[in-house]
Amino acid sequence: MPPTSTDDLRQAYLDFFQEKGHAVIPGAPLIPENDPTVLFTTAGMHPLVPYLLGEPHPAGKRLVDVQRCIRTQDIDEVGDISHLTCFEMLGNWSLGDYFKEGAIEMSFQFLTEVLEIPKNMLAVSCFEGDDDAPKDEGAAACWKEVGIPEERIAFLPKVANWWGPAGRTGPCGPDTEMFYWIGKGKPHGNPRENEKDWLEIWNDVFMQYNKKKDGTFEPLEQQNVDTGMGLERTAAVMQGVSNVYEIDTVKPILDHVLRLHENVEEEVGGRLKEETIRHARIITDHLKAAVFIIGDGIKPSNVDRGYILRRLIRRAIRSARSLGIEHSGAFTPAIAETIVQQYGHFYGNLHEKEREIRDALSHEEMQFSKTLTEGLKQFQKAVEKAGDTIDGETAFHLYDTYGFPIEMTQELAAENHMKVEKKGFEEAFRKHQELSRKGAEQKFSGGLADHSAETTKLHTATHLLNAALRKVLGGHVFQKGSNITAERLRFDFSHDAKMTPEQLKQVEDLVNKAIEEDLPIRYHITSVEEAKKENAIGVFDERYESEVKVYVVGNEKITFSREICGGPHVARTGMIGKFTIKKEESSSAGVRRIKAVVEGGPEEIEFATEG
Ligand code: ALA
Repeated sequence: MPPTSTDDLRQAYLDFFQEKGHAVIPGAPLIPENDPTVLFTTAGMHPLVPYLLGEPHPAGKRLVDVQRCIRTQDIDEVGDISHLTCFEMLGNWSLGDYFKEGAIEMSFQFLTEVLEIPKNMLAVSCFEGDDDAPKDEGAAACWKEVGIPEERIAFLPKVANWWGPAGRTGPCGPDTEMFYWIGKGKPHGNPRENEKDWLEIWNDVFMQYNKKKDGTFEPLEQQNVDTGMGLERTAAVMQGVSNVYEIDTVKPILDHVLRLHENVEEEVGGRLKEETIRHARIITDHLKAAVFIIGDGIKPSNVDRGYILRRLIRRAIRSARSLGIEHSGAFTPAIAETIVQQYGHFYGNLHEKEREIRDALSHEEMQFSKTLTEGLKQFQKAVEKAGDTIDGETAFHLYDTYGFPIEMTQELAAENHMKVEKKGFEEAFRKHQELSRKGAEQKFSGGLADHSAETTKLHTATHLLNAALRKVLGGHVFQKGSNITAERLRFDFSHDAKMTPEQLKQVEDLVNKAIEEDLPIRYHITSVEEAKKENAIGVFDERYESEVKVYVVGNEKITFSREICGGPHVARTGMIGKFTIKKEESSSAGVRRIKAVVEGGPEEIEFATEG
């Protein structure tokens, strides 16, 4: 009997590949280690990047695992039949071992012999070729060899059939995807001809290239295979249900949500409204994502991962409100309980942290519920007042006073056929940060004559410190918080050990050397994409879709620091004066804190300019 339950499917996958000589390795947490370029683990290959680049893996050249993933780029599609922000990926890897032929043979065998999917229900796609890499005739030939007819093979361009890198650089290559027929009647065509009739369930990536910082692709010495099968989608196929919310592990969560919906009885008698289904699915998916993210150690906040978590929870609460579900602190923990029931046996961390998960959700729910109703009223007023655009100040007010993530305001606006002035929001955001910093400084410094020169120097010193820490401790260091007064800077960063006196001295020396060299500081305005490409460090979350400022400290010969930041900064490092670290201590788990001062620079400074 082929596996049908989600649990059996996971196990069948691991068993099949284990029999084919793959070592079963544990999935990684959702928070990538040592990779500041992404916020969450988005694929099974993610924790394996060093091995795909040639580092030997202790378990060998053939690996298999189950990886929990968070992908927020599809958030707007959540609610349809197949998109999720939180899902499980079944994956097998060859690290320089088998390549296209072996991968395709095993995929085909698993699909048709273990899952017993009839061959005529399957179609595949291959890379059509471009300037970077040729048409993947090799993969297509392998498919024909196992018995997929030509008319079920679609050749598609890079947007569809190229995968990776997961961050901005790293291993990537052409892929071949496998699809299951979900159209009406007899299977026909392929994902190029009638895309909507085919559901993607598995992807075999042939990692032959390394994408470099300059955007070019160099062939990898070690040719790898990276595959990812969507567990929920494949379970839907095996269970004969039409969407990923009806599978055995997810349906109890969806049903729990629907039981809370005020009109469910009237509606169930007839048919649930489309909007009801969409909201219930959003709640199911987002709270599942939230449970998994908190289970891996993140709490809701206004930055980085915490912000995305907050957005997911608040989005779920807004959907709950639309369904008339009471949300005063008990709703999200109740759903979380059902989620842990479904997943705790496989993900032990969820059981262990159940209390913490429920508390964090309850707290966030209470906090947001307090302001949601009033915020929605304010939003309504703004709609009545505005033409077709909600101005940036209003969006910021909704964010700052009522806790509306900007994305939520954008969604609300879209529902009213309006836009939000995003740039204006960002300006208001920055202005506010600046103001609250100045306010804090004033309180702190009690009327120091020229505190803005002092804070600007400290601000630039913070960039030098950030860069120096990364040079001394490694690329895992990134900013977790920064607070500047006229007297000192305070910088929190990811690093999980106390710094040694030697390391502190090295960092201090590097900063002072950069100051002595009197390096110029300039900024340019660019897109987040471009900023990433040029390797600027920064908080790469989803708040900044449009243009950002990148401050570069350095001359033609050396670049000391390159960082996304609103500014302002001094024009040359020489203006900073002498830099001294006063204290290094723990801030929270895995986060260290440095306090430092500068002294002796000029009283009057010049500001860094564009160029
Ligand atoms: N890394 C590939 C994907 O995520 C398998 O689709």
